Amino acid sequence: MTNQETTKDVGVRVALVTGGRRGIGRGIAYSLAASGFDIAIADLAFDDDAKETIDTVRARGRRAEFFACDVANIDRHAAVLDSVTTALGPLDCLVNNAGISVERRGDLLETTAESFDRLMRVNLRGPFFLTQRVAAAFVADPRPERYRSIINISSANAFAASINRGEYCLSKIAVTMATWLFATRLGEAGIGVFEIRPGIIRTGMTAVAEADYDRRIREGLTPMPRWGTPEDIGRAAAALASGAFAFSTGDVIHIDGGLHIQRL
Ligand code: NAI
Repeated sequence: MTNQETTKDVGVRVALVTGGRRGIGRGIAYSLAASGFDIAIADLAFDDDAKETIDTVRARGRRAEFFACDVANIDRHAAVLDSVTTALGPLDCLVNNAGISVERRGDLLETTAESFDRLMRVNLRGPFFLTQRVAAAFVADPRPERYRSIINISSANAFAASINRGEYCLSKIAVTMATWLFATRLGEAGIGVFEIRPGIIRTGMTAVAEADYDRRIREGLTPMPRWGTPEDIGRAAAALASGAFAFSTGDVIHIDGGLHIQRL
């Protein structure tokens, strides 16, 4: 059997979604569950939102477990991954979704080193080393009968310069290169590595700028004039994780209503 034979029934498949407590991560968890994955959520703390995500996945007939994890704390990654594997079995998919924006939008000329480091730790350094650990486990345990993947959630700010949150933009464009690096390293093992670039998605993260985005969408910011939803991102992640693109790797999937198209 080969990795390309992805439609075979390989039994339980397991996905780890970082930042899956709410927002886009929750949408991804729901779509992956609908595609037959059992779900591990790794997020900062278990709360009502996390409970709702876990309960909903379980109500839909899949296993779901919560693991307290700060992705920036790379010393804890091994223990978290051990707990996930013990509870649910070996991973088939890692979704690096956890991410943060700047605490305050402000002038590029006033960006602080503290904010820069905070963004890099959570959005880049943590996911890089978590991916490294999962990738090493994948390589050490070849499972040619299973399609396995790593999906990075970046942002339209991987190409769009927002000078009121430059450090966020930098952290996200680096995710593009991390995707290419791991795609190249893991190609031989048949493991797909992808980047999903969300546009403007209605979540807690964008709530601070809701009125501004409402106006800009009305004025034509996106060819498709609406907010994206966590489900829009979830459906894309589920297609990638299910092996629908098994002979692709390193690709960027824009889920943004056409925001990325330059117009004249
Ligand atoms: P959100 O703020 O609603 O959810 C983020 C989740 O990540 C939360 O559950 C939070 O607790 C968790 N998280 C934050 N820091 C963490 C850490 N250090 N360790 C573990 N978990 C952590 O945000 P949203 O909108 O769902 O964002 C998810 C991802 O999508 C982020 O990477 C974000 O940068 C990206 N994104 C979001 C867009 C949007 O319009 N909402 C647009 C483009 C990208």
